[in-house]
Amino acid sequence: MMSSTVITNIATLVTNDPSLGDGSPLGLIQDAAVVIDGDRVAWTGESSKAPATDNRVDAGGRAVLPGFVDSHSHLVFAGDRTQEFNARMSGRSYTAGGIRTTVAATRAATDAELEANLTHYLAEALRQGTTTFETKSGYGLTVEDEARALRIAARHTDEVTYLGAHIVSPDYADDPAAYVALVTGEMLDACAPHARWVDVFCEKGAFDGDQARAILTAGKARGLHPRVHANQLSYGPGVQLAVELDAASADHCTHLTDADVDALANGNTVATLLPGAEFSTRAEWPDARRLLDAGVTVALSTDCNPGSSFTSSVPFCIALAVRDMRMTPDEAVWSATAGGAAALRRTDIGRLAPGAYADLTLLDAPSHVHLAYRPGVPLVSGVWRRGERVL
Ligand code: NIG
Ligand code: FE
Repeated sequence: MMSSTVITNIATLVTNDPSLGDGSPLGLIQDAAVVIDGDRVAWTGESSKAPATDNRVDAGGRAVLPGFVDSHSHLVFAGDRTQEFNARMSGRSYTAGGIRTTVAATRAATDAELEANLTHYLAEALRQGTTTFETKSGYGLTVEDEARALRIAARHTDEVTYLGAHIVSPDYADDPAAYVALVTGEMLDACAPHARWVDVFCEKGAFDGDQARAILTAGKARGLHPRVHANQLSYGPGVQLAVELDAASADHCTHLTDADVDALANGNTVATLLPGAEFSTRAEWPDARRLLDAGVTVALSTDCNPGSSFTSSVPFCIALAVRDMRMTPDEAVWSATAGGAAALRRTDIGRLAPGAYADLTLLDAPSHVHLAYRPGVPLVSGVWRRGERVL
């Protein structure tokens, strides 16, 4: 029999359902309660009106919000790139060429080592309130190494992305066209059964617009849905290609023309901003304010990877987005929960309304604003995933 639990005495509840609470996008309810039935939210409202349940948890006047939806990470890898980070912090710039270092380490690792790394970073993320994560291949770049990365990832999440087109494999340095043929052919055949999404790093030094279009179109024909690493290091065709192909998300969006912003505002593609990457590469910040003011749906994620953004902390990204990307605390919290869900085309996560999955984060603070107001402080003091208390 499914058991029910009520969490009472919540000072601020973020529901992300504007029809609940104060009518804002965050659907805030003060002095609130949530009822969990099995793996779903059954009820939200004022604490005094909460129905009776089997179990009762007192939130002690703290805040509850939906678990973070980290819709962009690269967690199947081995090794780290401390030396590259050190060099960058001494003035060297980020070029993405370091991806090759991680490819070599990842190819040399056993399946067990890769899975142990993945579970280590997932546990880290969970302690910081992440209840859903997307992750990618992209550090194997052979048919077998890409397929095994996806197989390992799929044991831990439904949100698995085929990124054989991260960079041209070093084995094909002299013949990029042959590598695109592999990515759209034999490698796609081996990877498609393990993935939901297809991604491409559309950037100078990685894949150009025509190559990206070929890769995403081939993925679509195999039932994978597109998402794109777009406009990270320079202006380029990635964002408009993402919108044209109805990608769920264009990720990075650091260098945008007005036409790129217009395309996002008029399309169905979420702009996923990854401030950990700008922080860790000392690059210029994406202009979240410009996107939000144009009506673009914005998600915030970690981009956790050993090169450009080695953080698994969504709270850290929220603090950066508020301090440096001109987002309000409410906007940043929405983007890291409902925004991430939108970037994965999901409506069953990222909100706390009846019927949604009971994925909840309890903060050791009276409101969600403290996530930005108290940067670097480990505020996550409880996590429920699918109705189970896991922290
Ligand atoms: O999202 N942009 C390309 N891929 C990663 C970086 C990967 C790496 O440097 O290892 C990113 O930033
Ligand atoms: Fe990335």
